[in-house]
This record gives sequence, C-alpha cells and structure tokens, in this order.
Amino acid sequence: MNGKYLNDICVFDSGAGGISVLREITRLLPHEDIVYFGDSANAPYGSRTKEEVRELTLNAIRHFVDEGVKACVIACNTATSAAAPLLRSTFSIPIIGVEPAVKPAVLAGHRRILVMATEMTLRLEKFHRLAEKYGKGAEIIPVPGIGVVEEIEAGRTDTPEFHELLENLLGRYRGRVDAVVLGCTHYPFIRRQIAEVLGNIPFYDGGEGTARELKRRLDENGILSARDRDGRVIFLSSRNTPEEIALYRKFYGMP
Ligand code: DGL
Repeated sequence: MNGKYLNDICVFDSGAGGISVLREITRLLPHEDIVYFGDSANAPYGSRTKEEVRELTLNAIRHFVDEGVKACVIACNTATSAAAPLLRSTFSIPIIGVEPAVKPAVLAGHRRILVMATEMTLRLEKFHRLAEKYGKGAEIIPVPGIGVVEEIEAGRTDTPEFHELLENLLGRYRGRVDAVVLGCTHYPFIRRQIAEVLGNIPFYDGGEGTARELKRRLDENGILSARDRDGRVIFLSSRNTPEEIALYRKFYGMP
C-alpha cells in the first residue's frame, strides 16, 4: 500500500456522471476527504462489453485501494451492474454501488415509469431483477440513452442537435408516462433538457440514496471521519487535461 489517498473515499465513474452522486455525498458527509476518478478516456462504458467494463473498473479500483482509500463508491449504474460482485469479492473495503431508483418511484405511487439508462444497465440481470421486484402493478418502460453520455462528456448539452437527440429518444413518451427514473449518473445534469421534452413530471435518481447508504456503511464499519473541519475533494481523470478537470469542476458546482 502506498497511502497517497489514505482514508479517503474513492468515488468512481466512467466519466463525469458520478459527480451527480459526489454532490450528494459531500452534502451529507462534509467532513470526509474524497478522491473522484472519472475514466473519461474510456467512456462511454454503456456500449462496451460486460467483460471490458469489469476489467476497466477492477483496474481503476485496485489502484485506489493500493493508495489506501477506506471505501469506494461505484457512482456508475453500468459499472455497478457489471462489476460490483467481482469488486466485493476482490477487495475488503466497503464497496457501495448505485442502481436505478425504480423502488422510490414505485413507492411514490407512479404507474407508468420511464427508466432511462445505458444499454448495458438495461440489458444486465440486475435491472431485470429490480424491475421484477418493484414493477408489480406499475409499467416499467426502459429507454436506452443511446448517444447521450457522449454529448454530456463533451459538454454539448445546450445545442439544437442535443434537443433533437432527446426528442428522438423520448418524444414518443410525452404525456404517456408519469415519472422518469434517471438510471445513469450522467443524466441528472440534463434534467432540464429532458423536462423540455417530457414536461415537468417527477424525476428520480439514486444519488441521495447512495450517499445515505455510504454513510450507513462507514458508520457500521466505524470509519466515519471524526474531524470537524471540512474535507477536500480531489478530481482525477484518465483524460487528464486541464479542460477535462475544468468540466468536472463545472459539473460539481452546477446548481
Ligand atoms: N454514468 C454511467 C452510469 O451511471 C455510465 C455512462 C457510460 O459511460 O455509458 O451508467
């Protein structure tokens, strides 16, 4: 162990998406030190094979475990679906994953629920089990967000082309669904653009629930930070350019 990030929490995503989860984590746990790593050089994960995503995720997390992190949040639905069991059997630190917030949407009483996520998240067993468990009495409508993550990663989300992409993916559901689950951690950053297509219906994402689960797991393991000063956040990216880190910071500061 090298200890460069000793006792940090590692928050990982294929790119900038996990920052939507990071924001909930720092709100709930302001005294923790966090290292955020986005694998933007290899994004998007959602159109890769499961084996590729497992390998990329395993290698990234191994690096941070070697640097001494005390827990890891896989702030990526795709990587959680593909690799969480493998990570949990490989590393002894708490590994917290994310999943599309189907449960809270169903419990809130919605009956026609659009779940937008990557192709891989919607294809893998974890989602099918989730839809089966909570989808009774509700219609779960899966919609793969093909091409969406690429545009978010490039910061091109306020263009007519992006609106058209969303219109093509979602327009047919306008007026026909009563809630949307944002099943990819990139999508909270385009909530407004999705609402422009689907209208102002309720949105659900897993960020807050993940932060609560992280707190619970840290507490259970007796490793919550005991400090009373604010923690710090370090942003790292496999596409390690000043522009990329600036994009991450912009997402972190976004209202
Ligand atoms: N942010 C990721 C997720 O939650 C995946 C995006 C991607 O790389 O395809 O699924």
